Amino acid sequence: MAKNVSDLTLADVHENDVGFGIDIGGSGIKAAPVHLRTGELLGKRFRLDTPEESSPEAVGEVLGKVVAHFGDLPDSTPVGLTFPGVILNDVTITSANMDKRWIGTDVGEVARRFTGHDAHVVNDADAAGYAEARYGAGLGQDGTVLVMTLGTGIGSALIHDGVLVPNLELGHLELDGHDAETRAASSVKDKEGLSYAKWAERLQRYFAHVEFLFSPDLFIVGGGVSKDHEKFLPLLELRAPIVPAKLRNTAGIVGAAALAARDR
Ligand code: BGC
Repeated sequence: MAKNVSDLTLADVHENDVGFGIDIGGSGIKAAPVHLRTGELLGKRFRLDTPEESSPEAVGEVLGKVVAHFGDLPDSTPVGLTFPGVILNDVTITSANMDKRWIGTDVGEVARRFTGHDAHVVNDADAAGYAEARYGAGLGQDGTVLVMTLGTGIGSALIHDGVLVPNLELGHLELDGHDAETRAASSVKDKEGLSYAKWAERLQRYFAHVEFLFSPDLFIVGGGVSKDHEKFLPLLELRAPIVPAKLRNTAGIVGAAALAARDR
């Protein structure tokens, strides 16, 4: 099991090495301080449910509570925030699995209004992927790493020699005439009651297509279901190695903080 929380505390770490990450997901809003050198959390993650009606206002209020849990953050701390959609200059361009009122919303402005902090906004899979490539299962891997997150939707991140190409959106490739994530996300496995073997047949067609398009050197699979990776990853036949994510449920938080520090 990956070690998620550092033995060090906030007080032990130089302020330049501390970031703060917030991860907005379909089911929860989570945050924690992050050790930027190691990618470990510098304290326990705090999580509140994403409100059923996931409008910017409703999510903003929960965001405010999650950040307030950590008390005052120094102004010097880079704060990163993820959103499950295409993000350009802090603005949401798509919102496949959240309220459509997010489209066109300046997420940075929502964060400022409800938390009192400036935040650097990135796509959720980009954050998770960057964290895996830099601190997790992709550490030391040259060439092209594709990180795919299987959850409510399918997220994707492309990292080439450590450089992230943002907003890839491979979850919306066509698979058997459908938007791929509506056939192969882990939420669909649950909804349709598919066995791992049946679901893996869909994953096989999907990953084979992605591999044909990008020829990655390594696939990393994240999302909650990756904890059960022995049940489906060995069933996939691909040229590239395919391995489970290491950071698991902290990847979004860690990547958000690391990207905020990188782009400061
Ligand atoms: C969204 C992506 C997101 C992924 C995982 C997709 O539906 O379009 O932006 O990364 O879900 O949350």
